[in-house]
Amino acid sequence: MDHPRYPRPLGLDPLAYGGDYNPEQWPEEVWAEDVRLMREAGVTMVSVGIFSWALLEPERGQYEFGWLDRLLDLLHAHGIRADLATPTVVPPAWFYRDHPDALPVTREGTRYAFGSRGAICHSSPAYQHAAATITEQLARRYGTHPAVALWHVHNEYGVPVSDCYCDESAAHFRRWLGERYGTLKELNSAWGTAFWGQRYTRWDDIQPPRLTPTAGNPAQQLDYARFTNDAVLANFKRERDLLHRLAPGIPVTTNFMTALSQCQSMDYWAWGREVDLVANDHYLVAEDPRSQINLAMAADLTRSVAGGRPWLLLEHSTGAVNWQPRNLVKRPGELARNSLAHVARGSEGAMFFQWRASRSGAEKFHSAMLPHAGTSSRIWREVVALGQELGKLAEIRDSLVQTDAAMLWDWESWWAQRLEWRPSVDLDARERAEAWYTASWDAHLTVDFAHPEAELSRYPLVVAPALYLTTEAAARNLRQYVENGGTLVVSCFSGIVDEHDTVHPGPHPGALREVLGLTVEEFAPLRAGAAVRLEGDGQPPLRAEAWTEFVRPEGAETLWHYADGPTAGGPAVTRHALGSGRAWYVSARLDGDGLARVLRAAAAEAGLPERRLPHDLEVVERVGEHGRYLFAVNHGAAAADLPLAGPGTELLTGADVRDVLAVPAGETRVVRY
Ligand code: GAL
Repeated sequence: MDHPRYPRPLGLDPLAYGGDYNPEQWPEEVWAEDVRLMREAGVTMVSVGIFSWALLEPERGQYEFGWLDRLLDLLHAHGIRADLATPTVVPPAWFYRDHPDALPVTREGTRYAFGSRGAICHSSPAYQHAAATITEQLARRYGTHPAVALWHVHNEYGVPVSDCYCDESAAHFRRWLGERYGTLKELNSAWGTAFWGQRYTRWDDIQPPRLTPTAGNPAQQLDYARFTNDAVLANFKRERDLLHRLAPGIPVTTNFMTALSQCQSMDYWAWGREVDLVANDHYLVAEDPRSQINLAMAADLTRSVAGGRPWLLLEHSTGAVNWQPRNLVKRPGELARNSLAHVARGSEGAMFFQWRASRSGAEKFHSAMLPHAGTSSRIWREVVALGQELGKLAEIRDSLVQTDAAMLWDWESWWAQRLEWRPSVDLDARERAEAWYTASWDAHLTVDFAHPEAELSRYPLVVAPALYLTTEAAARNLRQYVENGGTLVVSCFSGIVDEHDTVHPGPHPGALREVLGLTVEEFAPLRAGAAVRLEGDGQPPLRAEAWTEFVRPEGAETLWHYADGPTAGGPAVTRHALGSGRAWYVSARLDGDGLARVLRAAAAEAGLPERRLPHDLEVVERVGEHGRYLFAVNHGAAAADLPLAGPGTELLTGADVRDVLAVPAGETRVVRY
């Protein structure tokens, strides 16, 4: 992958600090107070115009740019940069008056209505034309405005709805299939249409995977997921190309949602290659007592789709969100911990939704930098303090996060695995990815994510938590990685099908039999709530739930075997020496402790250091031209000590440190050494 160098938002030297700013919701008198308070808080950039289409173009072809002119001038006069949006996530009411068929249709055939946001059929030519027109207007008018630092295209492509099942989408899908397969013969073969008599003799007979009486064709559904990603991405590229052409020199971004719990429909490996600057939004799952792990995983995934380069956190929250069942507040200091944890993992700043809390609309109970309570509030005080802290970290820009290992992740494989009629509903790719990630976080290993076909040789350890769909190319890649000395850990139900959701020839796991040195004769899912014991020579037992397999070694040695359950006596965790490396296989859904033990054993074998650090201390290193930066975020309730490799300066307090860094409970320290 050829990634451009990280392009900073134009003219932004400090870290980005600010949020979505929706001044159109307020009388203009309020704007002066806004910019004054932004200065007080150390805000350096705000995202503007995201939902402003109806205000900028109140009727087709009639434009009202005056307010945005005044706003950008005001921001510029106060030294605040603008991340200027194309407002194409919410077409105005007049657009739907003329084009009701641009509203997306569900699988069940229901058309969504206007009155919320993101109701877009991405195959609609009318939408594409209108979006291009407003984008062009903005690019021509503001492409040389001195406040504009970054283009923010659309908002969170892929949510709240990405797939559409209307007739226009159906025709678009058929064109996409024509390009992918060329002939119906190829398509019939790829989709396995000999099964249940689904053979097609005319292109026009092919539909999107609309509601069917029982399980639909899985290859068709998987292709529809790919098609949807491509259709949405094409709309981003159209706007990006216009902006590049009409407003050259300003980097273009769009806000991803890499957290697997937040957007499931976009293949961010593909998206990462198309933006100038990768940006992400992340919202905590408030009820998760260790939500810092989900945050770290999203940040690592974001950095990985950026090819390891720095990226930008474009949205998170200062406190409670408003769209979860129970919107818990952030604990004191959590706002700064969250922000600095993103920065530790490669973000070049911390931005929020949103600057000033809304009084109307669906998000009036969402926290903001300036809450309804105003400046006499805990949140405001924390916002001001964070602005000061980020101000002290500008020198870390462009530094790169140091990582220990890679975790394989493939959105296509996830899409395939979650289709209906799998051997057990209890085995879920996202759950496994999060579980293995948690084990690596607890072992204080910093991981990159990698596509299974990516170059892996720089990693001593590669973990595949869930690789149900494994292409031949990925299989070759993993084999080569092990032969050349790598340590690979593969978790259950991987290597099963190819890119068409067709089972690889021969026994499971077809794509990985050779590298793992074994076959799987049968899957043996467990009853709900049941667990099995795994025993290993001289090792304390492990515990697994939900999933086991009948494994027959063909070259692999058994490290743990099943002590009970349907596969009692059989191998459970194996290791296969191949070339100068080793491939481990974990055939059961291990619980957290079990995963931690297997991961630590494999990491030790791969030569990774055992980091004996306080349990809740998150330690990440960035290395840049000006030095090495050690971030230590203490999520625990007690002070934690971090041994240092040498003397350095703590950037937030300015203190000289040597030998040991004391990190108070709930606080963050950043040492340059
Ligand atoms: C994001 C979205 C914002 C706002 C926020 C609330 O997903 O981009 O516009 O809705 O959620 O948490």
